Amino acid sequence: MRKPIIAGNWKMNNTASQGVALVKAIAPLVTEANCDVVVCVPAIDIPAVSEALKGTNIKLGAENVHFAEKGAYTGEISAAMLLEYGVEYVIIGHSERRQYFAETDETVNKRTLTALNAGLTPIVCIGESLEERETGKTEEVLATQIHEGLKNIEDITKIVIAYEPVWAIGTGKTATAEQANETIGFIRKTIGEMFCPNCAAKLRIQYGGSMNAGNCKELMAMEEIDGGLIGGASLKAPDFAAIVNFDK
Ligand code: PGA
Repeated sequence: MRKPIIAGNWKMNNTASQGVALVKAIAPLVTEANCDVVVCVPAIDIPAVSEALKGTNIKLGAENVHFAEKGAYTGEISAAMLLEYGVEYVIIGHSERRQYFAETDETVNKRTLTALNAGLTPIVCIGESLEERETGKTEEVLATQIHEGLKNIEDITKIVIAYEPVWAIGTGKTATAEQANETIGFIRKTIGEMFCPNCAAKLRIQYGGSMNAGNCKELMAMEEIDGGLIGGASLKAPDFAAIVNFDK
């Protein structure tokens, strides 16, 4: 009942011309996709990639959005700026932004509410560090990220959550399918208690962290996992397409 969603997160890779070449290589490989296909790209790539995606089944996403409508925020990008280029999704609270750019649950919450208000679909990232997992704090950390980051959302089914254990991002160390399934089950239960069980049942929750062409089938076969947020493997057309076509 939940339509899977596979999203690429290019991070700070690909100039605009490289991005255009990449989506042109991906597009013919994913025409038969049974899932939502998204590429989240650097802000400056958006105009060119948006043009290149016309007539394809690939949707465009950004990697961040500011919470203010407009104003004196040097270097930031507003929701209106994204919308003008047909952006539909936006990653919020990626662990790299939390780690390197002082993102907190509070700013995640503000950005998420702004994105929703503007009609963008936020892909909100949550996840524990290795130390937190090893000291048994995973559920506590995730519960805080959920309670603080997702408060005051009117319709929780309008967002996508990406569960990304920080220790699995870019490390080649994937959570086992069982680990990911169990933790995503916990996230769904917590959201069910905070909002309503029915909404939680409809909410799409992705796994992210070293997901690739080799392990995507096993991860996607798990009941709780509704998609993937793909970093490294989204930078190569055949790899990304293989993940999108996980069910073929
Ligand atoms: P990775 O990144 O697939 O390279 O581990 C995932 C992410 O950071 O979203």
